[in-house]
Amino acid sequence: MNVLVCGGAGFIGSAFIKSYHQNNRDSKITNLDNLTIGSNLQNLKELKDDPNYKFIKDDIRNESVIDSLVKDSDVTINFAAESHVDRSIANPKPFLETNIFGTYSILEAIRKHDKQFIHVSTDEVYGDAQGKSSFNEDSQINPSNPYAATKAAADNLVMSYHRTYGINCITTRCTNNFGPNQFPEKLIPKTIIRLLKNLKVPLYGDGTQIRSWIYVNDHVQAIESLIKKGKPGHVYNITAYEEITNKSIVEKILDILGKPREHLIVLSWIRTSSARVEPELVVATLAERLNQVESYAVQHRVDICVPGLVIERMPRPLRLKEPAILHLVIFRLQAFILAKLRHPEDI
Ligand SMILES: NC(=O)c1ccc[n+]([C@@H]2O[C@H](COP(=O)([O-])OP(=O)(O)OC[C@H]3O[C@@H](n4cnc5c(N)ncnc54)[C@H](O)[C@@H]3O)[C@@H](O)[C@H]2O)c1
Repeated sequence: MNVLVCGGAGFIGSAFIKSYHQNNRDSKITNLDNLTIGSNLQNLKELKDDPNYKFIKDDIRNESVIDSLVKDSDVTINFAAESHVDRSIANPKPFLETNIFGTYSILEAIRKHDKQFIHVSTDEVYGDAQGKSSFNEDSQINPSNPYAATKAAADNLVMSYHRTYGINCITTRCTNNFGPNQFPEKLIPKTIIRLLKNLKVPLYGDGTQIRSWIYVNDHVQAIESLIKKGKPGHVYNITAYEEITNKSIVEKILDILGKPREHLIVLSWIRTSSARVEPELVVATLAERLNQVESYAVQHRVDICVPGLVIERMPRPLRLKEPAILHLVIFRLQAFILAKLRHPEDI
């Protein structure tokens, strides 16, 4: 299988490439990325000289390049996006250009060459709760910031190409990802990095805003299942059903690092034109269709994975001294015992 990954030097795209490569040794993977902010080719250093992996520095809006790469591939997965909400509020234009026109350029090549397309979107397109307790794939989209609006526009464009031209496409809408190599401005890496430097961690509001988290490897595993088993023209929500307040996440990291609560400082909301106003409560995203896709199950939980992420960010000589190691061992042991209790037949 020839696989074209757009935006594969970013956080999720690089995790997808590594996992897909490991599970499909004979597949050839081409990664096209224009290396903007958030990208890091170091994420893929182990594949650099692999004969089944090729990197091309280019832009998804470059129609002739995209056309020839799509032509030579069986499936195209698009992770390339301007993806930082705060930056979209400060300057929406690049978001329109990449997220909408970039998707258009891929869609044109997909319809011309009749190939499979996986459009990676986000549950942010559903917007604020509006009295609902959950979103499923049939919920109305109602984006509340320019990033989400451009993703929603691209989702509509993809669906229109399916209805008009019959292209073979799937749209995925995932909740917040966390995991290795995440861009340092996101909540979990930012908290870890600041605490390791002994700096305080700012939290906006009272910290009770809830976000739904999924480990990046579970997200990319779901995408891999959908390439094989998803129904063309369908939208699939992806979630691990782990809804946690921002404050609890920060407190978990404080505990792992053995830091007192005084390291957490709560800031009141700043409402300027460039500041993001987060909803008080994010409603649950339900992955009803994904549950029907055989062979997919969430494997990772926040409690189990966060200690490993703390260790990943530590300077090497520190790693063995910190209490994070102890937490990692305890969490792993807990997970092992829980798994054994759930499946005693394996003992
Ligand atoms: N991070 C999350 O929590 C999350 C959750 C749900 C969905 N998503 C979606 O997943 C996708 C990947 O997100 P991410 O967190 O890995 O983002 P990221 O910013 O880490 O990666 C995006 C990648 O796209 C590349 N890129 C940007 N514009 C490009 C262009 N015009 N041409 C070619 N490459 C370009 C960047 O260089 C970068 O490597 C996005 O579509 C995002 O909307 C992210």
